[in-house]
Amino acid sequence: MRDRTRSVKVCASIAAMVVAALVVSACGDSSESSAPRTGRAIYVESCQTCHGRSGEGFVGPSLIDSAARYPDEADEVAIVTNGIGEMPGWGGRLTTAQIATVVGYIRGAFTSTSTTEPFEGPQLVTTTTAP
Ligand code: HEC
Repeated sequence: MRDRTRSVKVCASIAAMVVAALVVSACGDSSESSAPRTGRAIYVESCQTCHGRSGEGFVGPSLIDSAARYPDEADEVAIVTNGIGEMPGWGGRLTTAQIATVVGYIRGAFTSTSTTEPFEGPQLVTTTTAP
């Protein structure tokens, strides 16, 4: 009985630390913290650690040109919602609207032609056909 109470307390303080860490990291982010949840904000918060700042991939695969791999946006939404391979589904952690928003962001922002941020991972091989 005593032990059980103690482990509940330990659990609660670990939970408190996790919450504090999340709050601190959320505040560390720039202007977006007070803005409504944009696709970028959701991405930075939930996806960037594995998929990289510019979708170039890290622990998870590159998301660049995912729209070409998933011509039907609903397929990509389903993967994010239900998970795939090593990636757990986000359905329980993000709302349907948030998932749709972040997938829309990925498809629009991370393309081999429109990525504005520097790549930090392996360079994407693109065919160079002059216009
Ligand atoms: C804990 C690390 C991790 C996080 C966080 C994460 N992913 Fe993933 N993601 C992966 C891994 C690993 C795979 C590859 C799984 C496989 O195919 O085995 C993957 C695959 C994907 C794919 C499929 C890519 C393809 O080309 O087939 C999409 C889309 C995706 N993730 C989107 C997201 C989105 C959106 C988020 C944030 C809501 C996110 N991921 C957060 C690790 C992560």
